[in-house]
Amino acid sequence: MTNLPLQLTSFVGRERELAEVRRLLSTTRLLTLTGAGGVGKTRLALQAVADLLEDHPDGIWLVELAALGDAALLPRSVAAALGVSETPGQPLTRTLSTHLEPRRLLLVLDNCDHLVAASADLVDHLLRTCPHLRILATSRQRLGVAGETAWRVPSLELPDTRASAGTDEIGASEAVRLFRERARLALPTFVLDDRTATAVAQICSRLDGIPLAIELAAARVSLLAPAQLLARLDDCFRLLVGGSRTAPTRQQTLAATLDWSYGLLSEHERLLFRRLSVFNGGFTLEAAEAVCAGDGITSAEVLDLLGHSFAAMIADLQSLVARIQTAAKDVAGTSAGLHDTAAETGSTVEQVARAIESVASGAAETSRGAHETTAAVEQLGQAIDGIARGATEQAQQVQSASATATQMAGEVEQVAASAQQVASVSRETQAAGDRRSARG
Ligand SMILES: Nc1ncnc2c1ncn2[C@@H]1O[C@H](COP(=O)(O)OP(=O)(O)OP(=O)(O)O)[C@@H](O)[C@H]1O
Ligand SMILES: [Mg+2]
Repeated sequence: MTNLPLQLTSFVGRERELAEVRRLLSTTRLLTLTGAGGVGKTRLALQAVADLLEDHPDGIWLVELAALGDAALLPRSVAAALGVSETPGQPLTRTLSTHLEPRRLLLVLDNCDHLVAASADLVDHLLRTCPHLRILATSRQRLGVAGETAWRVPSLELPDTRASAGTDEIGASEAVRLFRERARLALPTFVLDDRTATAVAQICSRLDGIPLAIELAAARVSLLAPAQLLARLDDCFRLLVGGSRTAPTRQQTLAATLDWSYGLLSEHERLLFRRLSVFNGGFTLEAAEAVCAGDGITSAEVLDLLGHSFAAMIADLQSLVARIQTAAKDVAGTSAGLHDTAAETGSTVEQVARAIESVASGAAETSRGAHETTAAVEQLGQAIDGIARGATEQAQQVQSASATATQMAGEVEQVAASAQQVASVSRETQAAGDRRSARG
């Protein structure tokens, strides 16, 4: 009576958190696990409920929402997870509450982040109509529904990074345990010993004990020794901290990790990654193949290159834009004289961000929208070029803000490069579509 997925990697630590989540679940009908991206909300939720089947005679049902782009489809996702079919002429939310009303079950709504309002509406409706229903949600922010208990998932326990700390002591911390487990998957001969322990402790602490960041780092031990990893990470931080001092440490951490692991990709992987950035949210293998294959990458390679961690980096383009937004705001704050220009740049960048999103969703429909997509992307490219020029001029004009502005220009150019890449992919898609219609 469950659709909970089997986990392919080991679960590390979290004894106290598991006990707390289970305790809270027994006292509230809606528990939302909140916290930074990658801190382990989903994994903790799944682990916590895995042993609770006996308490829920009608089962535990997971609804995975990360890939759901359209909030209007939320009830349909829940119905699909529960195996409930639509009744003609009846709103689906009503069908759902009729199904759930007599049942004692636990619904796990995972990754509600981008659908908070829709999730809140549905949860509120279901909790009001189904007296025995319990819901465990994960989301970066609380849902804001009456009766909700929100609980913030902490980072993993960090090791002692003082020089006096021994290998055993370091190896006992949760963050280092996770690093070691994942490092062994990448390099079975990896050991935590007197030579590696201090560097590993520092990596974990640099990454704030965020499991996602630790997994990304540990996956690299087959290429780089921990001390080398640490040095690269330090470089990224220097770069990032120079760019925006106002971004929260966590964001800096994650952005640095993403940048850094992007830098470690092969040319081929980067090319595919840039092409994949046309998709917003998720994509199917067929769509990825259709959009990304050609000019340097074969279809077979597209499938090969699509590893799990690789797919996770699709967010990079968006996070790049987010950082430009932060940087633009930063420039506005540092210099009163620059204020107006920077705010303007900020809003143009927001427009660009919106345009990128609409291009991304348009392009996902591949050749159908290819004509418009190409034109839109070209306009976007021009707009971005304009911002890049403006940002570079700003950097030259005002000495005190020049470090931030230059970096912004660089990042905008990166986005411009990605957008050009998108333009060329769209042109390819369009050409393929034209060829196909010429043939048909
Ligand atoms: N205690 C743990 N033991 C082992 N692996 C973990 C643990 N916590 C998290 N992870 C791993 O770290 C990665 C990120 O965790 P998870 O997806 O749960 O984060 P999240 O907070 O749900 O992220 P997001 O905000 O993006 O949804 C996953 O690969 C997960 O398997
Ligand atoms: Mg999650």
